[in-house]
Amino acid sequence: MPHPSELLPPGHVLYSNATGAQAVGDSLDLLAALPDRSIDLIVTSPPFPLLRKKSYGNEEQEAYVAWLGQFGAAARRVLKETGSFVLDVGGAYRKREPFRSLHQFRVLIDWCDRLEYRLAEEFYWHNPSKLPSPIEWVNKRKIRVKDSVNTVWWFANGEAPKADVRRVLVPYSAAMKRLLADPKKYYTPKDRPSEHSISAKFAKDNGGAIPSNLLSYPNSRSNSYYLNTCKALEERLGSPSHPARFPADLPRFFIEMLTEPGDVVLDIFSGSNTTGEVASNAGRRWLSFEKHRDYAAMSALRLVGDVDLDTAGDLVEMLRKEMGVDLGAYLEAHAGGEAPPQREAGELPLVGAAGGPQQVAN
Ligand SMILES: C[S@@+](CC[C@H](N)C(=O)[O-])C[C@H]1O[C@@H](n2cnc3c(N)ncnc32)[C@H](O)[C@@H]1O
Repeated sequence: MPHPSELLPPGHVLYSNATGAQAVGDSLDLLAALPDRSIDLIVTSPPFPLLRKKSYGNEEQEAYVAWLGQFGAAARRVLKETGSFVLDVGGAYRKREPFRSLHQFRVLIDWCDRLEYRLAEEFYWHNPSKLPSPIEWVNKRKIRVKDSVNTVWWFANGEAPKADVRRVLVPYSAAMKRLLADPKKYYTPKDRPSEHSISAKFAKDNGGAIPSNLLSYPNSRSNSYYLNTCKALEERLGSPSHPARFPADLPRFFIEMLTEPGDVVLDIFSGSNTTGEVASNAGRRWLSFEKHRDYAAMSALRLVGDVDLDTAGDLVEMLRKEMGVDLGAYLEAHAGGEAPPQREAGELPLVGAAGGPQQVAN
């Protein structure tokens, strides 16, 4: 199986590990350099058209749909026929008005109508740890509630996107566990008034329940090696951690469901490279594109195990000057040859999608 860095012409890769590579550059140029039908899954979170500009810049809401559409169009060619594009795009308020922008829905319609993607399913990412905002409408005037849900569009490139929900089963509810332990006591097969006929097969233990399209993952983790090391190195390096990361559980869900080990996962707005880290740990090959070299350099911290602070700082400084750094070789030379721990895909904890009574056995 070729290493994903071979999919790009020389000179773009900032660093690589055994399964993938982080490239630096504008994703439109990098997508154009990839061969046709080389990618199984793109999972990404673009900059959102927020009203308050973040340090990496945001497109104005009006131009946003056209801007993002360029990436969607370029991605069609590089995705395999069975490939998917998962786009996490949050909502926003219109400027100085307590009314919502429709940009994420316009993106959805543009991608399906003009670019001819198919909407395989819409997902909602609920972030229970989201802070109330905008302050004016939510905290001060108290006329809007807290917005804690992002839309996540799962687009199919062709007629039959690769997918298997059995790889992302969630724990059964307490009621379902009681039913499985003693089906006769809790359940007599019958037809429901809804004419949704269910039989005794309902009581079969399939190892977990089918998740729903409401994914509930807090984005409040503050004790990872990446974050701790960024913080500890802030004075030396002068750059903080990435300001808009998504939680690892979000790309993990789609990587597990939509790809198999060895498949190639791409993040075209990779930021701190959460996607690359998750894909690598899940035994997938991965490619990540980020236009800011400093974010990309810091993101290597996600893939070096937990090396000491000096080795980590030296690595980031090296990545600010040199391209094409092999992390395995770097660790061998500087950290006693300790390879970062690689977990098997099956060992990854599945953090459940929103459970409750609506969960049914598959
Ligand atoms: C919302 S952040 C992604 C964060 C990422 N999901 C994580 O967990 O760290 C979006 C990123 O896209 C990058 N970006 C914006 N435009 C880009 C472009 N044209 N090509 C490559 N990267 C771009 C920004 O620099 C920013 O780091």
